[in-house]
Amino acid sequence: MSLEQGRQWLHSARRLVALTGAGISAESGIPTFRGAGGLWRSYRAEDLATPQAFARDPLLVWEWYDWRRQLIARANPNPGHFALAALEQRALQFTLVTQNVDGLHDRAGSRAPLKLHGDIWRLRCQSCFAAWDDFQTPLPSLPPRCSCGGLARPGVVWFGEGLPAGVWDAAVEAVSVADLVLVVGTSAVVYPAAQLVPLAARAGARVIEINIEETPASSQAGLCLRGPSGEILPNLLSDA
Ligand code: OAD
Repeated sequence: MSLEQGRQWLHSARRLVALTGAGISAESGIPTFRGAGGLWRSYRAEDLATPQAFARDPLLVWEWYDWRRQLIARANPNPGHFALAALEQRALQFTLVTQNVDGLHDRAGSRAPLKLHGDIWRLRCQSCFAAWDDFQTPLPSLPPRCSCGGLARPGVVWFGEGLPAGVWDAAVEAVSVADLVLVVGTSAVVYPAAQLVPLAARAGARVIEINIEETPASSQAGLCLRGPSGEILPNLLSDA
């Protein structure tokens, strides 16, 4: 019944946004951050995902990112990623906003995901600020260096850092004019990304949450579909 409601909303939507989090990649075998088996249960974010941690011990931080890159390289996009790529093909206007750095949306065929937290495959020089993609796993030497000799850092957003400005602005614009927002596999507790959900609701968008459990975004959602996104998303789209 509620899936049917979701299909109707999807069918009538003209401007769509999907906001995704680590949960959409869980069925690809990539650990989420929070909850059972989450990365932040075994590691401290402040030791690994802050500018201070990197300044203190770049090798330790890089070892963790290199391990995650290897994990991601072995994984494949799942039906949830593919469903969103397919939706992009047929929606009039579709914006994918992701908190994920794993690149699985790109590999599933999504054209230009707005990556709020950057990209684990991108490296940035701390000295000359050059940025480049590097898909090698494992990286040949840690910590990696720029051709200028400077220390490279992962091209991701760490705690305490601002989001890439153009990307954030584009995400705010997209949810402000959206008539339907799908909130998929995010705990909706990390700001400012989580702010996009109330922003969308206040601007009048319908919100559908797809998650295995309740989150702070649930109260803003007109429809909550409980279950794995790799099953629900293809189902939701099957009749739209
Ligand atoms: P979290 O790990 O906080 O939350 C993952 C969410 O996915 C939870 O709400 C789970 O219930 C849900 N989930 C798990 N498996 C699922 C499945 N198969 N289908 C649907 N939902 C599922 O991940 P994020 O919300 O993405 O930031 O976390 C936000 C940010 O916090 C990340 O981008 C990262 C992290 O610290 C930075 O590194 C800056």
